Amino acid sequence: MSEQLRGKLIVLGITGSIAAYKGAEVARRLMDLGAEVHATLTRAGERFITPLTLRTLTGQSVTVDMFDDPSEWQVEHVSLAKRAAAVVVAPATADAIAKLALGIADEFIYTVALATRAPIIIAPAMESNMLTHPATQANVKALRDRGVHFIEPEEGRLASAAVGVGRLAKPQDIAAAVAAILAPGDLGGARVIITAGPTQEPIDPVRYISNRSSGKMGYALAEAAARRSANVTLISGPTALPRPDGCEFVSVQTAQQMHDEVLRRFTRTCELVSLEFSSDFQERIRNTLDRRYDHRHRRGSGRIPHQRGGMQYAIGPEQGRATELEDDTPVRAAGCRSGGYVPREACVCFGRG
Ligand SMILES: Cc1cc2nc3c(=O)[nH]c(=O)nc-3n(C[C@H](O)[C@H](O)[C@H](O)COP(=O)(O)O)c2cc1C
Repeated sequence: MSEQLRGKLIVLGITGSIAAYKGAEVARRLMDLGAEVHATLTRAGERFITPLTLRTLTGQSVTVDMFDDPSEWQVEHVSLAKRAAAVVVAPATADAIAKLALGIADEFIYTVALATRAPIIIAPAMESNMLTHPATQANVKALRDRGVHFIEPEEGRLASAAVGVGRLAKPQDIAAAVAAILAPGDLGGARVIITAGPTQEPIDPVRYISNRSSGKMGYALAEAAARRSANVTLISGPTALPRPDGCEFVSVQTAQQMHDEVLRRFTRTCELVSLEFSSDFQERIRNTLDRRYDHRHRRGSGRIPHQRGGMQYAIGPEQGRATELEDDTPVRAAGCRSGGYVPREACVCFGRG
């Protein structure tokens, strides 16, 4: 078994979720990877799983009430915070995420999270409505913006018996993600630009031509490269995905904007991974509507009105962006779509060799 976490102390916070019992499995999986795990329960967490279970599993004392022994806790939370290679909150309730976002320190795990400068890794578990509530999403965003890592919850049957997103990620996946986050980066210093997602070519202010690209592959690569310490810029068309941790994120809509942002950032020392699925044709709408409509739409919403017999517009070729990067540019990572920056058959790779 690989011992990627050998010699690393992980503070594991288990909060008051119905998934708290899986916290024990998270502890075991982290220990399987060689970590020394110090578990702590919130008072609500203790309603779901006992300190005895965690103490027996980890071989370490388990803090629940930080005021149990005031002469010790002060030392304990500061010293654990200093020694921790990472602070992992799994499962994390909506309440825990809110407290971490606001810096509220009324439980041991939150004081450690404030006192440490080690990476903080959060694995949420809650009902879908709690997860997607704007308050929770704002807290997640605030934490992400501060560099906190999230291990996305899964879709499946929830405590309420409803099916939706909000199930705690699998304990082995949480342990693997912690190991990946703490792995020494082999791409330190590399500049990686990744393009992802679809582009949208406006026809008029309310309509556009696009495609079904999800952006998932580009986002996953961006996150993986960032974890390996690359300096990553992700240039993305509109997607429903959360922004990956640790990347500069540039949001674009059209192929032209994508093109401009790439050229603005691209230097000869960059790696470029082109995974966006920009619209294959840039729309040049030659409005064949008669001048009466044209006149009216200029004064109104700008939307091209319906007309009998359909609408005609010409489709021009997509801008040849690849040709604008010099032939000998160090593009070693490549796209998977036709007509993009680089040949379809080229492989995706990271490296500096
Ligand atoms: C049976 C039960 C299950 C719960 N499960 C969750 C959950 O999965 N996720 C969540 O965010 N809150 C859940 N809660 C609510 C939290 O326990 C509550 O917000 C608590 O204050 C969280 O405290 P903590 O974040 O300090 O651990 C549950 C409550 C009960 C009674």
